[in-house]
Amino acid sequence: MLTPIEGSSDVPFDIKRVYYIYCVDKNVRRGFHSHKNLEQVLICVNGSVKILVKTPFEEQEILLDNPQKGLYIGSMVWREMFDFSDDAVLLVLASEHYDINDYIRNYENYEQIAKKYFEENVGR
Ligand code: TYD
Repeated sequence: MLTPIEGSSDVPFDIKRVYYIYCVDKNVRRGFHSHKNLEQVLICVNGSVKILVKTPFEEQEILLDNPQKGLYIGSMVWREMFDFSDDAVLLVLASEHYDINDYIRNYENYEQIAKKYFEENVGR
């Protein structure tokens, strides 16, 4: 099998960065942050992992267990990754280079900023 991914057509942005997360212990939960501007697509290319995506208004848990399935996460969405299978490899395509200042890691801080952001820019 071969699955190609082209920037700006298969994913809604130019891909500037790629990274992958693997060898994560079963009981480890990662993420716990949002990004101000960054957009990402998550693809579990091997094994399985669960993703919690959350805004101040709604939340959803998504099982990624198929290398042909990608999860788009826009800016200002809180995410947590958990239940990594032993063989899980989570590939992440990102719209920007790494920028430590783009992270919001404190949930209360995130909630305040995100409420404003979604009310002003997107509505609910
Ligand atoms: P982080 O984004 O916090 O990972 P996760 O959300 O999966 O827990 O990143 C973990 C560490 O890796 C952090 O110290 C920053 C570093 N890092 C980079 O240097 N470049 C990158 O592109 C990414 C995503 C992380």
